[in-house]
Amino acid sequence: MSEKAPAADDPHGPTRPVAIAGAGSIGVAFAVLFAASGRPVRVWDAFPEAFDRARGELTARLGLLADFGLLHEPAEVVGARVVFVADLAGAVADVVLVQECAPERVELKRALFQAVLAVAPADAALASSSSAIVPSSIAEGDPRLARRLIVGHPGNPPYLLSVIEVVPSPDTDPVLVEQATEVYRSAGLKPVLVRREIEGFLFNRLQGAVLREAYALVRDGVASVDDIDEVVRSGLGRRWSFIGPFETVDLNTRGGVESHADKMGPAYERMGAERGQHDPWTPELVASVAAQRRAALPLEQWDDRVRWRDEQLMRLKPIWDAAG
Ligand SMILES: NC(=O)c1ccc[n+]([C@@H]2O[C@H](COP(=O)([O-])OP(=O)(O)OC[C@H]3O[C@@H](n4cnc5c(N)ncnc54)[C@H](O)[C@@H]3O)[C@@H](O)[C@H]2O)c1
Repeated sequence: MSEKAPAADDPHGPTRPVAIAGAGSIGVAFAVLFAASGRPVRVWDAFPEAFDRARGELTARLGLLADFGLLHEPAEVVGARVVFVADLAGAVADVVLVQECAPERVELKRALFQAVLAVAPADAALASSSSAIVPSSIAEGDPRLARRLIVGHPGNPPYLLSVIEVVPSPDTDPVLVEQATEVYRSAGLKPVLVRREIEGFLFNRLQGAVLREAYALVRDGVASVDDIDEVVRSGLGRRWSFIGPFETVDLNTRGGVESHADKMGPAYERMGAERGQHDPWTPELVASVAAQRRAALPLEQWDDRVRWRDEQLMRLKPIWDAAG
């Protein structure tokens, strides 16, 4: 599909282009994702000499996806939706979203977004791929930028890990938050709203909790690095590939989350205290988690869902497959 002007009655529709600012690893990966979903993509970089490498990476990544049968169209058709543009104003003309993918340095991102603000369409949402910097820190008191800026933090690579964390600042216009969210959704991503600016967002905070414990266990000689990885490869990770930690415990104990917290809460509290943590699962907190779980899964459907979980596990490679 070649680049088309947006339909007049659909200003944020799937044919309106996105701009990627920064043609490194995440920038190219976003280009793959958006182009595979049918959207025209313009890639800009402060160093246009990066374009040759980026073109090569784009072709290689699309080729791999095609080899795995994961593209709906020939790789060349998808690749042709991506154009590399050396001037920023040309790259952002008409776009619905600018996805910044420049190095993780706050001053650099600030300067880049000031340049983007000067040339981007007035109704374009502006998103940073930052892994750790919150949007109000990038906007740093510039209300024009703060109104339009979110962090849209992808997994790596975003065309294989579908979650994207959407992090507005208190000053971001909710209309633009929704616009960016819709663009992500239209590319097949699963946007998750982070309601408060917090270091590490959700992805890295959860990963951090596991990593901190893993390091402590190695330090204390409790297990080897590979055995800890094995617990995730062969245990936790198999379930986590299709359900999260809350659904896991909800399905592990008849009666759901409340029953689990009742039986296991004190042990988890002692484990936390051993690490200097005091975040008790108070009755109110457990009730709030349980209410959200019961809204997602009424207890009458609990047995069916447990069976569904087991079916998902059976679809994974069988544990007795000696090939490992
Ligand atoms: N790599 C990851 O796993 C990952 C995952 C999620 C988010 N992120 C975030 O995505 C962003 C980009 O990370 P990356 O790994 O793609 O970095 P990278 O180093 O691979 O690419 C950065 C690109 O930005 C270009 N660049 C340098 N200065 C620039 C400027 N002033 N303006 C525009 N472009 C400029 C470089 O030429 C390069 O092409 C970072 O904020 C990073 O934290 C990375």
